[in-house]
Amino acid sequence: MTSAQLRQSFLDFFASKGHTIVPSSPLLPDSPNLLFTNAGMNQFVPYFLGDRPAPFKRAADTQKCIRAGGKHNDLEDVGFDTYHHTFFEMLGNWSFGDYFKKESLEWGWELLTKVWGIPAKRLFATVYSPDKSKGDPADFDQEAYDIWAAIFRREGLDPALHIINGNKKDNFWMMGDTGPCGPCSEIHFNLLPSDDEAAGRQRVNSSDSRCIEIWNHVFIQFNAEPDGTFKTLSARHVDTGMGFERVAGIIATTKGFKSFDAEPSNYNADVFASTLAKVAQLSGKTYTGTVPTKREGLPEQEMTDVAFRVLADHARTVSCAIADGIMPGNDGRNYVIRRILRRGILYGRRLGLQIGFFESLVDTVAAELGGIFPELRAKQDLIKRVILSEEESFGRTLDRGLMLFNKSYETYKAQGGVSAIPGTVAFELYDTFGFPLDMTELLATERGLKVDTAGFEAEMEKQKARGRESQVKTVISVNEGDTHAAATRFIGFNETSLHDVPAKLLEVVVSEGKTFLVFDQSPFYAEMGGQVGDTGVARLGDHILFITNTIKDAAGRFLHEVKTAASLTAHVGSAFSLTVDLDRRRAIQRHHSATHVLNFALREVLGTHVIQQGSYVTPGRMRFDFAHFEAVTPEQLIEVEHIANTHILANDTINWFETEFDKKPANCIATFGEKYGKVVRVVDIGGWSVELCGGTHVRATGEIGAFKILAETGVAAGKRRIEAVAGEAAQTLLEGNHQKLSRLALRMGCGLDEVEARFDKFFEEKATLERELKALKQKAATHLAAELAAGATVRADGLRLVAAVVTSDDATALRELALQLARRLGPSAVVLGAEIGGKASLVAHCTAEANATGLQAGAIIKDLSAKLGGKGGGKPDLAMGGAPDTAKMAEAIKAVFG
Ligand code: SER
Repeated sequence: MTSAQLRQSFLDFFASKGHTIVPSSPLLPDSPNLLFTNAGMNQFVPYFLGDRPAPFKRAADTQKCIRAGGKHNDLEDVGFDTYHHTFFEMLGNWSFGDYFKKESLEWGWELLTKVWGIPAKRLFATVYSPDKSKGDPADFDQEAYDIWAAIFRREGLDPALHIINGNKKDNFWMMGDTGPCGPCSEIHFNLLPSDDEAAGRQRVNSSDSRCIEIWNHVFIQFNAEPDGTFKTLSARHVDTGMGFERVAGIIATTKGFKSFDAEPSNYNADVFASTLAKVAQLSGKTYTGTVPTKREGLPEQEMTDVAFRVLADHARTVSCAIADGIMPGNDGRNYVIRRILRRGILYGRRLGLQIGFFESLVDTVAAELGGIFPELRAKQDLIKRVILSEEESFGRTLDRGLMLFNKSYETYKAQGGVSAIPGTVAFELYDTFGFPLDMTELLATERGLKVDTAGFEAEMEKQKARGRESQVKTVISVNEGDTHAAATRFIGFNETSLHDVPAKLLEVVVSEGKTFLVFDQSPFYAEMGGQVGDTGVARLGDHILFITNTIKDAAGRFLHEVKTAASLTAHVGSAFSLTVDLDRRRAIQRHHSATHVLNFALREVLGTHVIQQGSYVTPGRMRFDFAHFEAVTPEQLIEVEHIANTHILANDTINWFETEFDKKPANCIATFGEKYGKVVRVVDIGGWSVELCGGTHVRATGEIGAFKILAETGVAAGKRRIEAVAGEAAQTLLEGNHQKLSRLALRMGCGLDEVEARFDKFFEEKATLERELKALKQKAATHLAAELAAGATVRADGLRLVAAVVTSDDATALRELALQLARRLGPSAVVLGAEIGGKASLVAHCTAEANATGLQAGAIIKDLSAKLGGKGGGKPDLAMGGAPDTAKMAEAIKAVFG
């Protein structure tokens, strides 16, 4: 059975049991708390929790998973063993409140032993047995135990030998710290040469490649709550996951579960074959499948085999992540992908592979997996371009970084007794050379060293602190220990509620020389999510206070900054009337809504990998940072701008509403790393742009007026920035541009339409004139040289001498003239001077014959420059100089040859 047949057989089996076959969900998870899709069940979470009704009662699929950098992190082991991956497929079957343990385990057994023919004697089952002393949740899974006992007895096998209890760590499955979870039952496969049950049993759950878990059946009954408790769900569900590559590897190694002599390896599965072959072809090395037993000082072939496995794994991970819009970048999941790619590049280097090799692995990955995951083929070019650009940027620093590491290693080895690479070095490698910390750790481990990670973190913290210091933001920490602090109620989303809003003054906060007012409620938007704070006035009777900014503190209090010398504490408790500067707020809102329109347009033009990475929205302009791997071309920018303006013109309605995070619309864009509460605000523009956003917006796109991009620049590797203007600012800019163009047309005496053609003509004429001028100058120089040559003094020994002041454009032309003159004269000495830019420029040329009589160009110029108060010198044949005194130049030059 090939890997593809194995996958199909799994799906066919569950289809025959009434399961709907669904496609894999993307690796970019819906939940902002997950780095990557890490299990088949992720896409079904809303069904388990009852947030959405499941469209089917049973489902099965193969799911793309990445386990790196999060709760389930296998990165460090990849390559060093034969069964861990950062990317893998998980085959799974699901019941949403339908069948439960009995069917799931019975069908699982049927598929493994009857359909695929795995010898029953080699299989072991684990069941959940909580360690109550450690506070493990729920009870012993008697139901699963009984089902397994009946199965094993039916096969004539002893349940006492084949069933193993496991505690929370091994047999209570959780997606993350929160989310649906429950007791699970795993099936382990004894791959030792002998099928002795006692020996197999002993190795279950002992990280032994000869006895490994192949299938986990999770019985979802609870939701892990943020407070650490487990809430019982209203229905019971089944979630199973089988390691596709493991089973495929076992089939390949055991020749269809028949021969158990060879050491099993997932990499024997044909799904890795073409990538391994490609690496062999590129490197000229051979994969022999050896597995190291330690991490440091590996023999060459072991290191080679580790590198082959790392590349076979990482090429899939990086390709599939990019296909699903997860670009290598600087934070969060994007940084994990960059780390994996860089780790791959490092291992490629071990095999002698040059920058650009990783990109060429994309084709083999697409060939291997493109059939089942079509996005790999659809995005093949994009994936390659992204990887190549990453390779090139890391390639620029890799060698120098490795040199620094080696230098540091040698230094510390020479010092003796030091066992860790210092945090400062690890940080420099990270910060300057782009070495992820785990890569430095890997390099250290290979040499039997550790990295001072605490020192690294300390350096990182120092850098962050430096960054914080350089920000000119007001940092408010007054609520520390302040028990009165309560969040201000914001009531300013609608324009109609920004005027004369009653509010009670609760506190006057003075911090860092500034005075802030805190009210019970406020229509003032406090700076947040990139949108600047509102300004306006606060009235108390006839008394008017100008509010110059609004910010928010950690407790959620809105701090309204006022410029006043008077003490306001006496007014605490008084009723104020608050009015926001509406024109300014409208200008801000136009820019904020424009960022959403821009986000949409960028994703249309560049692709859905464009993820917002920050924004700054003011009344006068906006800034939008996003993930993209290369500069946006001028043509693309024009298209983006055009799409944005078309959608503005459409005057689509902008709606906002609050909902629970889990119930947000399916097409809603959430940003990873943002901390979203249970209730979120959704901003929906015409149904085509749906984003989570806490900012304020205009009511319809038409209010944005116009949108104009000012600049597109790179901020960091994989991060771009667009600066743009909307509304009045765009209008002012466009009017200004138009006026400039009109003035230009006027000066050129033509209509606006003709300006470009006129310019082309103008430049053409300029080029012709320049050519003509150059020819004329050359002619003049030749003429001058002839004249000077004719006037040369001929010495008795035949040496010709010229010393003259001439007219010249620049020092280069003067030098050329001297050389031309020398060519005409033959054996000669020439000294020329010219006034250039108000100063004396000097040049001397002496032929070998002149040198033989003691005339040296360098000496002549040195002497001459000094006489004129300047400096100069050069070689015996040619020398140049300059001096401020032009008045005496003629006389001094005349005197050179006496
Ligand atoms: N969710 C379980 C796992 O990932 C079974 O699918 O192992």
